[in-house]
Amino acid sequence: MACTCVVGLQWGDEAKGKIVDLLTAEHDLVVRYNGGANAGHTVVRGGKTFKFSLLPTGVLHPHLRSVIGNGVVVYPVRFFEEVNQLRAAGVPVGGDNLVVSDHAHVIFPYHLEEERLLEEGGGEQAIGTTGRGIGPCYQDKVGRRHAVRLGELAHPDHLLKRLGPIVAYKNALLRSLSPTARQFDAETLCRDYTRAMEQVRPHLADTTRLLHEGLKAGKSILYEAAQGSLLDVDHGTYPYVTSSNSSPAGVWSGSGVPARRLTRVVGVIKAYSTRVGRGPFPTELNDGPDGIGEKIRKTGREYGTVTGRPRRCGWFDAVAARYSAALGGVDDLAVMLLDVLSDLDELRIATAYELDGERIDCFPSDSFLLERCKPVYETMPGWRVDVSGARKPADLPSAARRYVDRLSELLKLPVSIVSVGPDRVQTIFMR
Ligand code: IMP
Repeated sequence: MACTCVVGLQWGDEAKGKIVDLLTAEHDLVVRYNGGANAGHTVVRGGKTFKFSLLPTGVLHPHLRSVIGNGVVVYPVRFFEEVNQLRAAGVPVGGDNLVVSDHAHVIFPYHLEEERLLEEGGGEQAIGTTGRGIGPCYQDKVGRRHAVRLGELAHPDHLLKRLGPIVAYKNALLRSLSPTARQFDAETLCRDYTRAMEQVRPHLADTTRLLHEGLKAGKSILYEAAQGSLLDVDHGTYPYVTSSNSSPAGVWSGSGVPARRLTRVVGVIKAYSTRVGRGPFPTELNDGPDGIGEKIRKTGREYGTVTGRPRRCGWFDAVAARYSAALGGVDDLAVMLLDVLSDLDELRIATAYELDGERIDCFPSDSFLLERCKPVYETMPGWRVDVSGARKPADLPSAARRYVDRLSELLKLPVSIVSVGPDRVQTIFMR
């Protein structure tokens, strides 16, 4: 019985949505276990583009059960925006094919305000977040006193009792950050969220139990990680990370299913690197408007799905990807967006770093150290042929094939999938 995790090995936006979409046929349940509406998953199906930030990509397949696990933080407003977008496109979404954990934590508008004030006033300390209230909500979750779980919204009297002191505390906190900060009213929030609950209720479930029952009944699970492993709060480039475990480390805590049930971890990598938001990025190409970085951005349409921000672009970093592949127990690789590199004379891959004059092969995940690392590159010839029409390994020009093989060698993992365009058909299965 398959239990697969699809995880990004870089800083997110590795096009995991396409791989999840390809693997759905082999699974019964699709689970998101971390993050919230900060994730940007784009899936192109039958010429239609779907963008998700909170819902699992699996919702495009109504025969599957899509699950938002307890490790996710949920903003009910966004939940319904995405559900309605799907219904408008004729995709059926109901309580039987989309379930959300009653233990998932709830994002309130004061979380968004708190994040806005911290980021705007943060100067050098700003993280460059997506502004979706993710960090403040997880902060409250871990702090316990000021957090609300989704199941609590079904009990208005209880909710009002909880929100009274929480909102008083949040208002004081926000005012201390700025005298012009927005202020909130517990009764209004209680009314709005109780109303939202009416719509959420058909989807609400004890998802941990549901997943365990599914496993007992022989169902297979596909885990859809949000963000990339290098943004993992424990193992990523801290503090420039997201606030959850975006590597497979989050599967167990974020879904309640033991990680040892995983039978396959697919590590998704772009054929180059990108990053949005602040933080160290050793292979970043800062080579101006006519440079390769800008060329990759334009060709790869490297703009954030959630915020529209231009993504920082650079060469593939094998040091970083080797680290995150080990961290996630990756079994095989999916190499995405190979077509984007088609127009380059030569390509570079970082195979080691130089830190304070010393060559190192390991990845220092502390940002202050990584900032000082200079990549040691090896250069490979480009292929200068459009590969977007390739459908099998033999269709790839030999230089492209050599590039993919080299990534595999450097990461010591087999490449199972190469993607040469956004459409489902633009996929090469390597074995
Ligand atoms: P937050 O998750 O909104 O708190 O943002 C923290 C960091 O993670 C910022 O650098 C964001 O740009 C980055 N980030 C969050 N979600 C994604 C994603 O889905 N793709 C890429 N970067 C992300």
